Amino acid sequence: MALFTQDVIGIDMGSAATAVYVDGMGVCLREPTMMLVSREDMRQVAALGEDANRLADRAPEDLVGMPPVRVGAVTDIDLAALMLLAMAEKAAGRKKPMEKGRLLVSASTGLTHVEHAALLSAARLTGAKRVTAVNSSVAAAIGAGMDVSGPSAQLICDIGGGTAEIAVLCLGGVAASRTVRSAGMGFDEDIIRYLRAKRGVSVGDRTAEDVKRTVGSAVLPPEGSPGDTTVVRGRDLKTGRPTEISVTAREIAEALGYSVDCLVSAVQDVLLHLPAEFAGDIQKTGIRLTGGGSLLSGLKDAIAERTGLEVKLTQAPQDDVASGLGVIGCDESLLRECVAAGCAVE
Ligand SMILES: Nc1ncnc2c1ncn2[C@@H]1O[C@H](COP(=O)(O)OP(=O)(O)OP(=O)(O)O)[C@@H](O)[C@H]1O
Ligand SMILES: [Mg+2]
Repeated sequence: MALFTQDVIGIDMGSAATAVYVDGMGVCLREPTMMLVSREDMRQVAALGEDANRLADRAPEDLVGMPPVRVGAVTDIDLAALMLLAMAEKAAGRKKPMEKGRLLVSASTGLTHVEHAALLSAARLTGAKRVTAVNSSVAAAIGAGMDVSGPSAQLICDIGGGTAEIAVLCLGGVAASRTVRSAGMGFDEDIIRYLRAKRGVSVGDRTAEDVKRTVGSAVLPPEGSPGDTTVVRGRDLKTGRPTEISVTAREIAEALGYSVDCLVSAVQDVLLHLPAEFAGDIQKTGIRLTGGGSLLSGLKDAIAERTGLEVKLTQAPQDDVASGLGVIGCDESLLRECVAAGCAVE
């Protein structure tokens, strides 16, 4: 039960994007998890979120882009608190929206105790009256409408920007999990490395991400097939001059091949080590994919082919965690169940 309208705020501060749920409004904001801070004094924040991303390339030399979260973990408690508060205020449209309410934040399964404590400290620094950290796989599953409290095991794979988390959920808790770094931002790095090594061209993070979204694929198109191509702008490493090259979908699939392979192998590995009962359940329920990284073309089919299981993508993969935090925050008995199952900490 909600305390007051807008008194429950759920924030999924991911490695790539921060999504915010506000009670009564749903998931109403998603911005890059990025801050532009002074090189001299990191506490001086010049811009956050979308603004920070837009200005990062053009900012004066005394400013630097600083992500408050890296590979799922908070890099700096004060900066993370500033990011959480700013995003909550922007989403709710008023100052200090958690002063009398509850803030729920997502905690990756792979966090150490110290990283988990840092996340809770950052959340408390926002001034929220009550703070809860919820396991992100459980939140994603609830946000996607899966029944996680039943005795039948379910497998959810959240492919985000910094990490991919594979979790087997049962009786409201995490029965088995595995976290790997083959995820969205790793795919971008693969493309950057490939274009440097094979085409002699240096490209930036945002160009690599655009290429991934336009022609990126988890499956190799057959040699000689027409396939998609895209024009990529970068710097020629020999001449140092700006250049334009045409890149094929096959080249990008080749660049992503190793990371995709690591990711699919991790899913296979989790399945291989499951107790027989759970394996039987998952044979029936299949695999649910969430997280922005799961939107990579062909990834769903690659996982289905290699595991022999049915794989389904959720309807709003980039919002599932934040909406799950909202569902949990607005339902006191569900929140108690999550705490009892060890997947939520107050
Ligand atoms: N259409 C698309 N095709 C391929 N990748 C995509 C697409 N749309 C978004 N992505 C990728 O999704 C990633 C962001 O997903 P998401 O918001 O779930 O990550 P995150 O929660 O911030 O990260 P993490 O959970 O690892 O901390 C980015 O790397 C982005 O490039
Ligand atoms: Mg995420």
